[in-house]
Amino acid sequence: MNDNTAAIKEINGLLGDKERKAYVRSFGCQLNVSDGEKIKGLLQKMGYIFTEDEHEADLIILNTCAVRESAEDRVFGIVGSMKKLKELKPSLIIGIAGCMTAQSHIAEKIRKSYPQVDIVLGTSAINALPKLLLEALHGARFSADISEYDDFSEAAEQVRDSRFKASVPIMFGCNNFCTYCIVPYVRGRERSRHAEDIIEEVRRLVQNGYKEIMLLGQNVNSYGKDLENGMSFPQLLRELDSIEGDFIIRFMSSHPKDASKELIDTIFECEKVAKHLHLPVQSGSSDVLFRMNRHYDIEKYLGIVDYIYSRDPEFSLTTDLIVGFPDESDEEFKATLDLIKKVRYDNIYSFIYSKRSGTKAAEMHDGISDEEKGQRMRELLSVQREVSSEHYKRFIGKTMRVLADDVSKKKQGYLTGKSNEFIIVEFEGDSSLIGQFVDVEITDAMNWAVAGKIKKG
Ligand code: SAM
Ligand code: SF4
Ligand code: F3S
Repeated sequence: MNDNTAAIKEINGLLGDKERKAYVRSFGCQLNVSDGEKIKGLLQKMGYIFTEDEHEADLIILNTCAVRESAEDRVFGIVGSMKKLKELKPSLIIGIAGCMTAQSHIAEKIRKSYPQVDIVLGTSAINALPKLLLEALHGARFSADISEYDDFSEAAEQVRDSRFKASVPIMFGCNNFCTYCIVPYVRGRERSRHAEDIIEEVRRLVQNGYKEIMLLGQNVNSYGKDLENGMSFPQLLRELDSIEGDFIIRFMSSHPKDASKELIDTIFECEKVAKHLHLPVQSGSSDVLFRMNRHYDIEKYLGIVDYIYSRDPEFSLTTDLIVGFPDESDEEFKATLDLIKKVRYDNIYSFIYSKRSGTKAAEMHDGISDEEKGQRMRELLSVQREVSSEHYKRFIGKTMRVLADDVSKKKQGYLTGKSNEFIIVEFEGDSSLIGQFVDVEITDAMNWAVAGKIKKG
């Protein structure tokens, strides 16, 4: 555990009452966003207030993602453009945190080619931020800490971006080494948080008015396996379900190789657990799944889907898909299209394969052109649009319980929210309803959302 109390105290002494603003931007998955909230929690202790405008910031932290090359390019573009900001305000401190920094070649590239960057902070070294910031405030040219403290910062207070939706990481890292994926290399091995800490955190969040609790992990189904006498994930869900209060429990992601009947039964039996499962399949071809090292084939995957549909044929499923994995053949791609039609996902998150150096797939032969991959992606999205606009019709005439979360960007006087089934719902309503559950009678289905009216009485 890295004790940062002394450094925090010294920064507060050094900066005194002087106003200090921080701009913290997180990229990538919700686990990274959650880390960004921890970074903000530390900065708050050092007297920083937060701004959405990097031009008025005294400190900028970019909390980065490395999952695809495009994500890294985007950050390098932003860091490049920040050179001007630093010229205008030489006292500005710029820090790079998150998954990109865990790759030594990237940390080295930042140090060498981006002199405007003062701080580099690894994914397990968030607690080192006060020490590094202090060095920067004392004029150090470059301070970095990418070591692994194995420190889950239980005590870290987060500054949460929402007052009614909270992400709660239940585990960190990943053991699965899917051949395309950089995450195990930048996030380390699986470490589960103690169940008592998670339960206590959720209890406090609910007491403080949070309505949606999103449990996070790269594979929540292996939660607890690394702990002595650890609770399983279904057991944890049941414990959380028994906490008193009006709230909904969601979780992400659930690896199909470990998705058990017990998990599915638990979803159906726990009142507060959302009736939705995000079950990333990645490909509809068993051969591709083998090359991806996913540890399941399509037969096993469809077995899970069949069991879910045997309990509720209208259950809501979503997935992740990769298009253009090395040497993916036409037939293999077609198998993915067939799977989408067969399973009838409510939504898919699809990505064109991106080569990540250091992963096994980066060494594989890849004869598919970028044009072909782009064409396949367009085809996939068009099939999904057809499937979801048809499938969403099953909600017409039904009442959905919706957590209102924003004003509609498309229609004035309307709100949007997510239903229990994780479907976007648009309805007429006043912004005072944001953060509350409302019952909405569904009258219409689009391919991205359903629409309806708030039920009176
Ligand atoms: N742990 C989760 C799982 O296995 O379901 C996935 C987490 S990963 C951060 C989110 C998604 O990014 C993956 O499900 C995969 O579809 C996609 N992804 C990961 N590596 C990728 C790569 N090299 N190229 C394209 N997509 C990738
Ligand atoms: Fe990446 Fe696979 Fe781990 Fe998910 S399970 S984070 S895709 S290695
Ligand atoms: Fe998440 Fe991107 Fe890291 S998806 S775990 S922020 S590589």
